[in-house]
Amino acid sequence: MKSIKQEIIDSIIEQTGLPEEYVCACLEKSARPEWGDYSLACFRLSKTLGKSPDTIAKEIASRIKSTDLIEKVQPVTGYVNIFLSSTKLVEIALKEGIQIPDYGNGKRIVIDYSSPNIAKPFSIGHLRSTVIGNALSKIYTELGYKCIGINFLGDWGVQFGHILDGIKREDDSVLTVDMTKPSDQQPLITFVNKKTGRDLNKYYVISTSANDPAGREWAREVFGMLESGDDRIRCFWEIARKKSIEEFDHIYELLGINFHTDDNRYGGESEITPADINNAVAEMDKKGLTRISDGALIVDLERYGMPTCLLRKSDGATLYAARDVAAAIARYNTYKFSKMLYVVGADQKLHFRQVFKVLELMGYSWAKDCVHIDFGLVRFKSDQGREKMSTRRGTTILLEDVLNEAIKRSQALMKERVPEMADKVSPSEASEVARAVGIGAVIFNDLKNKRIKDVDFNWEQILTFDGETGPYLQYTHTRLDSLIRKYDTAKGLSRPEPDYKLLTASEEISIIKEMIQFPDIVKQSADEYEPSILSNYLLNLAGLFNRYYQIHRIISDDENLSSTRICLVARLKEVLKKGMGFLGITPLEKM
Ligand code: ARG
Repeated sequence: MKSIKQEIIDSIIEQTGLPEEYVCACLEKSARPEWGDYSLACFRLSKTLGKSPDTIAKEIASRIKSTDLIEKVQPVTGYVNIFLSSTKLVEIALKEGIQIPDYGNGKRIVIDYSSPNIAKPFSIGHLRSTVIGNALSKIYTELGYKCIGINFLGDWGVQFGHILDGIKREDDSVLTVDMTKPSDQQPLITFVNKKTGRDLNKYYVISTSANDPAGREWAREVFGMLESGDDRIRCFWEIARKKSIEEFDHIYELLGINFHTDDNRYGGESEITPADINNAVAEMDKKGLTRISDGALIVDLERYGMPTCLLRKSDGATLYAARDVAAAIARYNTYKFSKMLYVVGADQKLHFRQVFKVLELMGYSWAKDCVHIDFGLVRFKSDQGREKMSTRRGTTILLEDVLNEAIKRSQALMKERVPEMADKVSPSEASEVARAVGIGAVIFNDLKNKRIKDVDFNWEQILTFDGETGPYLQYTHTRLDSLIRKYDTAKGLSRPEPDYKLLTASEEISIIKEMIQFPDIVKQSADEYEPSILSNYLLNLAGLFNRYYQIHRIISDDENLSSTRICLVARLKEVLKKGMGFLGITPLEKM
């Protein structure tokens, strides 16, 4: 199974003897229809061959013969323009549908994504990581890679001490007991068991905002006890962790993501044992990379234009960078990945440069296969949205609030837009639709622009059926679906086999030509770690269809034509459905 582009590349190589590398690099989709479907740029060969690009283009063109796919070639000012046969393209697209070739061959890709912190809020920033990571995982999986998703939960650190400090500040009785006696731990355990993840966050905030040096000191001590394996603190830690996870799971469920499987799991910072870290540090020592500075263990990276990388504090507590280095080594040993992607905001750029540099200096050749997939911030531009959400719980905007608000707003929008829906679907169906539309809108808004760009969040803009939105794609999908249903259930139709020659309208050919790009678009989205390439492609495809639909009747008295057009609609629906699925957006059948 090859993409159309690959077929053309192969044909050119076979007929001209040009090196594959060159053809791959210089063959592009033509920018204008009068330049054909693909153009091969000849400038790069000019120097090696000592001839003008024009002459080279003419020579190459003369060697490429027409096939049933390549209709004609035309040399024009240093380019070889290649025109494909529309009939053949229609046949390829409709007969078997658009298939995505296997590029990955089962090679493993570890994707570190989402990664919220226990006891701290799941912020809208973590949404970006979750949504981008999820899309990349689905895209790579479709391309034949084996993806392993790891949610590197921030479940190890001084925040546990702060939760306890907060509890102590609120209700001293819970902690006045002698925790060295197992029976005396019970009041704390009972207390924490009744709390939710949000409550724990509340205690964390109480402690940190008290801004009391004694509280900080105590929190550090508690974390020290946790690191040295103290059973009592460990027991509290386990419950607190479980509570936070329960809360995160709720959000992931809204997004349709599950972190309780073998290939997509919580693998938090706590999984990195002291032994893992000690081994990593010992290795660094052996390579002469570490030294002590003010009592802390560091790697000096000045030579590489970076500040020092801190591994361990003077009190012995391990740090984020040390855990990331040790985690990377453990992951490589387990998965032998061909790539590891860290989907984390751009504010951690330096951290990852340091971690990757340390791994490289340790002699791990795979350090070059670690990639920081960075992204910009979310900016709330909206009307009342921000105030409403920010006054309720401090200044951070919580993801769960945003998602719930999205669902509420989409419910209202549907009522207004499709008032008769109430008669067509049951209330539970209607609420499922509202949920899919609301969440889809938030996800699409996130994936629509290049990831490094900041995302503007504006309720009116993301929740409309007429703009460049998730709901617009979902709406187009339902339109395709309802056409197919209408055709399938219409009485008295003979439904002949499709006749590919009948699709000749320019709007149809445009759709077909766009559809066949799908495999290349998916591949490009993966190569550039950029789901926005796929998002924009889907918008364009939906636009082409909606225009076509305005001009042409899909189901008409001409039964042969109807059957062929419905075949186009069905194939297009497959592409749209798949593409939306890769982005994490639910394709709807009715709305
Ligand atoms: N928990 C971290 C945060 O919220 C993100 C962790 C990202 N992954 C990693 N391997 N460092 O900032």
